[in-house]
Amino acid sequence: MEIQEIIAQRAQEIEGQIEPFLPKETGYAGKLYEAMNYSVRAGGKRLRPMLLASCHRLLGGNSSHLSVAMAAIEMIHTYSLVHDDLPAMDNDMLRRGKPTTHAVYGEAMAILAGDGLLNHAFTLLGRELISCDDEQMRSMAKVIAILSDKAGIDGMIGGQSVDVESEKTGSVITKEKLDYIYRKKTGALLTAAMLCGGALAQADDEKMKTLSDIGEKIGLAFQIIDDILDVEGDQKLLGKPIGSDEKNEKATYITYEGIEKAKEDADRLTREALDCLDTLCPDEADAQQEAAFLRELFLYLTKRDH
Ligand code: IPE
Ligand code: IPE
Ligand code: MG
Ligand code: MG
Ligand code: MG
Repeated sequence: MEIQEIIAQRAQEIEGQIEPFLPKETGYAGKLYEAMNYSVRAGGKRLRPMLLASCHRLLGGNSSHLSVAMAAIEMIHTYSLVHDDLPAMDNDMLRRGKPTTHAVYGEAMAILAGDGLLNHAFTLLGRELISCDDEQMRSMAKVIAILSDKAGIDGMIGGQSVDVESEKTGSVITKEKLDYIYRKKTGALLTAAMLCGGALAQADDEKMKTLSDIGEKIGLAFQIIDDILDVEGDQKLLGKPIGSDEKNEKATYITYEGIEKAKEDADRLTREALDCLDTLCPDEADAQQEAAFLRELFLYLTKRDH
């Protein structure tokens, strides 16, 4: 099977795993739940839960808490997109091939739907933690600590804050600041996905460090390609508007380095991530198969069209 087909198949399975954790659209707050579910069900690559599950398998994990962690990280990611698209932020009207949440439900409800998804993610994780047996409690607590940190003020939210602050400053921004934005706004949650998979598999510190190194590199490469797609992509395939960064006069890797160097850097970072992955070098057949999948996934991400 081609890697695209495997990814599509896994994404579909992930959607089935997430669905039971979505709120029922009933009661006075039914509209809120509908807006939350609209944004989660709209689609997307499901990359973060996919990475989480893949790293868990790679490290020989067998956790019964995998699905809830996968649902939680996709909810946190989706909330970040709902807020990222708001008029006060990137002001975009198309996401995952559909009108953005604020375009359908209004700005106030989109803010609340984002807040709702973030809180719901941690509600689910907290409930799961309470129901854990003693042995699994520590790894579940780690998942909560990783996600809240990486999605938070020294992670994604921190990165988004510098991203919006750096709008309309063009190439004046330093390379260090640009790296900060990318590592935080995008790299942090992708790294969290890998680390949560590792935590649920009870990986040792050395393996967790390797996962973190891989996540940093893949995260940076991922945002570089996202910026390239914003310039060269096809809106129909991408499912979000082209030219959003230019419209908002964003400081991007491309305004800084140019498109060719950006492509080279994404390829180099991916190769470095693959080298790190090789050092994890599992013995079991299952884990080896998973390492092969991750390798192909990372390479595919540099060539993706959405
Ligand atoms: C979009 O993330 C936001 C960025 C971090 C660049 P994805 O490209 O993973 O979005 P979906 O989940 O597939 O819609
Ligand atoms: C956003 O980066 C990253 C987050 C949502 C945290 P972008 O603003 O480039 O993402 P897209 O292009 O809108 O998906
Ligand atoms: Mg943005
Ligand atoms: Mg955006
Ligand atoms: Mg973008």
